[in-house]
Amino acid sequence: MNIQSMEPSTVGAGRTPTPPLLEKNRSGKHMDNEQMPTKMSAKGLDVFYNGKQALFGVDLDIPEQAVTALIGPSGCGKSTFLRCLNRMNDTIDGCDVKGDVTIDGQNIYDRELDVVELRARIGMVFQKPNPFPKSIYENVAYGPRIHGLSDDRQELDEIVQTSLDRAGWMNLAPAFLAASSNGSASPALSRSARKLS
Ligand SMILES: Nc1ncnc2c1ncn2[C@@H]1O[C@H](COP(=O)(O)OP(=O)(O)O)[C@@H](O)[C@H]1O
Ligand SMILES: [Mg+2]
Repeated sequence: MNIQSMEPSTVGAGRTPTPPLLEKNRSGKHMDNEQMPTKMSAKGLDVFYNGKQALFGVDLDIPEQAVTALIGPSGCGKSTFLRCLNRMNDTIDGCDVKGDVTIDGQNIYDRELDVVELRARIGMVFQKPNPFPKSIYENVAYGPRIHGLSDDRQELDEIVQTSLDRAGWMNLAPAFLAASSNGSASPALSRSARKLS
C-alpha cells in the first residue's frame, strides 16, 4: 500500500469529528483535529511478506483524541499497517518491517522496548471476534484482572455490566446470565440484566 499515491476518492486516511468536548483546547475554543498533537507516527514504513512488498514508504501522523480511519480496497494493506502499530507483524513468519513507528516520540521498534507492555497499551478490536474459551463474563473481566485493576467481585460485576451496556450487549441478558462467572451472576447483576432483557 502506498497511501501517498492512492486516489483520495477511493483510498485514504479520513478523520471523523471528535465529540465537542475533545475538540476544545484549554481556552475553550474548538480545535480542528489537524491541530491535535501527534500521538503516533509512521515514517517510511515498508512491509514485506517473504520478500514481497505490501507497504511502500507509508508516512502517517495519528493525532491524539481523534478518530483516524484507513479506507481502501481489500488487500491494499490496512491490516498490515495496523499490525505495525503494536508490532503484531513480529508474530508472522517471513514478515519484515522497515521504517519507523513512534508513540509519544518513542520508537516502538526499539530493541529495548517491552513488546508485551506495548501490546497491552495499544489494543486492537478485531473484525472477527475471537473470545477466549471462557464465559462472556470472564472474557470481559479478563483485561481488568490481568492488569490488576480489580479483583473484587462486586467491582468486576460493575465493570462487566458497564462494558456490556456501553457496547449494547446487555440486551443479550439471558445469554449473558447463562454465561456469567461460574454459571450464576451476582444478585445485583442478575436484577439489572433481567431489567434490560
Ligand atoms: N500473513 C501474510 N502472508 C503473506 N502475505 C500477506 C499476509 N497478510 C497479508 N498479506 C498480503 O499483503 C497485502 C495486504 O494485505 P492486508 O494488509 O491484509 O490488506 P487489507 O487489510 O487492506 O485487506 C495483500 O497482498 C495480502 O495478500
Ligand atoms: Mg484487513
